[in-house]
Amino acid sequence: MQTTRRVDELRETISAYRAAGARIALVPTMGALHAGHMALVEEAKLAADRVVVSIFVNPTQFAPNEDFAQYPRKEQADSRMLTAAGVDLLWMPPVEEMYPNGPEIDVRASEIGDVLDGAHRPGHFDGVTTVVARLFDQVRPDVALFGEKDWQQLAVIRRMVLDLKLPLVIQGVPTQREDDGLALSSRNAYLLPEDRAKAVALPRALGAAERSIATGGDPAAALAQAIDTLTAAGFDVDYVELRDAATLGAPIEGQPMRLLAAARIGGTRLIDNIAVTHE
Ligand code: PAF
Repeated sequence: MQTTRRVDELRETISAYRAAGARIALVPTMGALHAGHMALVEEAKLAADRVVVSIFVNPTQFAPNEDFAQYPRKEQADSRMLTAAGVDLLWMPPVEEMYPNGPEIDVRASEIGDVLDGAHRPGHFDGVTTVVARLFDQVRPDVALFGEKDWQQLAVIRRMVLDLKLPLVIQGVPTQREDDGLALSSRNAYLLPEDRAKAVALPRALGAAERSIATGGDPAAALAQAIDTLTAAGFDVDYVELRDAATLGAPIEGQPMRLLAAARIGGTRLIDNIAVTHE
């Protein structure tokens, strides 16, 4: 696997791939890789001839009070995992290479980035769209893969690609879960053992609400029940919401719906989501 930290070198390699007629997949990450990321890599290998993975802990998507400094950084272990998985190119830019003049020119996520997580993390999705637009410009992939665990991020990026008419396909990859149902996340590493034991309440509460709504139960009652269950389990709940899966606005009759939640346990903020299908 080739590793590069310089954009001119990256562009040279990408040009060589293109000259050879290769289809290119990009898996953008912030590192601290786990099986969820590796599922993205496996899908990327099926979708393209060359797989590029980026690792960049993007400062512009963290608010000053968030965990940018503590965010796990595991360059060597990540690099070994990606090599073993058969990744072609690891793009690991330093901050000065990604934002040579500071993050002055940005891409605003607008309304779809202002709701749900965006309401609790103001500016977060502007940071995501800004860095992902730069990554797309640097790598020019045919396809880019994102985990469904970050459903709002996936929806925001799909919207950006649509609005800017970017010539690539966005592929969502289903959430990978622990045996007890907890969604894999780099931030799970922050959980103390007692909080890890309680964390399973999140996918369980979502699952119960999904079954209730899918079988004709009142959505408002199902959401309230999920919030009560999470609170009783020790969570501090930011939101549990039922939304249109694509726009993240109010659910629309006949359109796919998504149940999304964010809640803190022992200081660690977890997010999760599942599809809701009427039976
Ligand atoms: O999902 C992530 O890891 C990040 O938000 C992303 C897409 C790599 C942008 O920094």
